[in-house]
Parts: sequence; C-alpha cells; structure tokens
Amino acid sequence: MTDTVSRAAVIDGKAFAEGLRARVATLAASFEQAAGRKAGLAVVLVGDDPASQVYVRSKGKQTVACGMASFEHRLPAETSQQDLLALVERLNADPAVDGILVQLPLPDQIDEQAVVDRIDPNKDVDGLTPVSTGRLALGLPGLVPCTPLGSLMLLKDRLGSLSGLDAVVIGRSILVGKPMAQLLLSENCTVTIAHSRTRNLPEVVRRADIVVAAVGRQEMVKADWVKPGATVIDVGINRIPAAEEGKTRLVGDVDYAGVSQVAGAITPVPGGVGPMTIAVLLRNTIVAAHRNAGMPLAEGTI
Ligand code: GUN
Repeated sequence: MTDTVSRAAVIDGKAFAEGLRARVATLAASFEQAAGRKAGLAVVLVGDDPASQVYVRSKGKQTVACGMASFEHRLPAETSQQDLLALVERLNADPAVDGILVQLPLPDQIDEQAVVDRIDPNKDVDGLTPVSTGRLALGLPGLVPCTPLGSLMLLKDRLGSLSGLDAVVIGRSILVGKPMAQLLLSENCTVTIAHSRTRNLPEVVRRADIVVAAVGRQEMVKADWVKPGATVIDVGINRIPAAEEGKTRLVGDVDYAGVSQVAGAITPVPGGVGPMTIAVLLRNTIVAAHRNAGMPLAEGTI
C-alpha cells in the first residue's frame, strides 16, 4: 500500500439509521396524538432459527423505542400452513396492526409465497406482496422492501442525484436484487442486474459508478473489479470463523480491505446497510399507519 492510493469514504449506515429512527419517533408521537392509538407492527416468527430470533428481538425493541406498539407472534417450527394463514388473516383484520412482517425463511412445509400473498397490501411493510412489487415495477408509490430502500437512501445521501449513473446490482433476489434494480431505474440510473450466470462478472462490475453487492458470497467483490471512485453498497452479511478459536465475525460480499483502497465510498459490514433494514421497516410502518388511519403522509415526508 502506498500514499498515492486513495481511501474510500466510509458510509455510516448506523448513524443514518439512528437519524431515520428519530424521525420515525417524531411521526409516531404525532400519529398517536392524532389517531388516539399507537402505530403497530406485528412480526411473525415460525421456528427457532437463531439468526431470525436475534432479528425479531431487535425489531421488537426498536419498534417500542420509536413509540410504536410491537406484537410478536412466535410459532413452533411444525406450524401448519393453514394455521399460519389463519394468523395472517387475524392480523389483517386487527385495527391495532398497521404493519405485518412474516420473518423469512419459513420451514419447508410452508409455501412462502402463499403466506406473503395473504398479507393485506396496506399492511405490507416488507413490500413483498404482488401488489407492492407490481406498484414498484410500475413506478407507482407504495411500500418498498426495507433493505433496498435503505441502500437507496444511503446512496442518495452520499451522491445526491443518481441520474445517468451506471449501476450494477449483483444478485437477483426478491428481497433485495430485483427491487434494488427497480429503485435505481426509477432514479434514472442505467441498471445492470448481474447474477451467478453472468459472464465476465468482474468486467461488468468495473463499468459501474454504483455497485450493490447482494449475493451472499463472502468477500466476492475484489478491488480490481471496482472502478476507481465508485460507490459500493455491501448488502452481504456472512458469518465466518474469526482468528480466535471458536469465535465468529461478520463479513460482507465485498472484500472491504481491498475495495476500500479503490472505491470512492463504501458501506462497512457491520454498520453499513444492516442497521438500515430495521430503521426502514419502522419507517414503512409509520407510513402505513398514517395511510391506514386516513391521514396519508405526503410523498417524501420521510
Ligand atoms: N429475512 C431476512 N431479511 C428479511 C426481510 O427483510 N424480511 C423478511 N420478512 N424476512 C427476512
């Protein structure tokens, strides 16, 4: 490493998420005043996946800290699809619930899409129902998946207008890659979606002014894949063995040590996109609550 090598600016998702949660809390307080009830988020967890349990606990805590009501439903791993659908129907009908999130993945006996399809689109704070995904594809306002929306917020905070920039999204999942590409397209980026079958991936990525890595492969994006000065958003969260025996640590889909010598700006893991996901979930919940109570917030309020 020499002095002539530039170091990327670190995009502080933790700080941005704190600010977003503070804005949600302000809106949650005024909502409670006006509606005579708290905005409410229901989270459904089926089974005992340890990572999912950590997320769900964290979601509950942050929901309450923002002044909203949290309803947690923990069901055994052997829950039937019928019972889960019945719970979703109850939550759809419950006027205290503004947002419903069914934690994924679900156990094998359950058809995930069938469950997501049953969520009332007005309560779809995860943005995964066909109505929400359709509205996003059409460029209509609606509820957008949390991780891509959080990533877009970080990009716009860093770059201002994204218009005309070349963006490469690596990964085509329903939860991140596809909605991310739609969002970037609606910001007038020239968007490429790359995936496991893409030929000459390093070459494709090297064209990008904006790289969003969401593949779930540890440290896959290397320094020589990245155009100097590009903005790199690392959505990956991979747990790997740490140097110390028996310990683990988190790494992203981007080789941070190398890429941070080339990029203009980069999100760290942890502390980049991760904290944004729950903050945007809370944001989506307060947006849905206002709409469901007949007092919709103007577009761009939060
Ligand atoms: N599992 C991992 N991330 C998510 C998410 O954003 N939403 C849901 N429902 N499940 C997840």
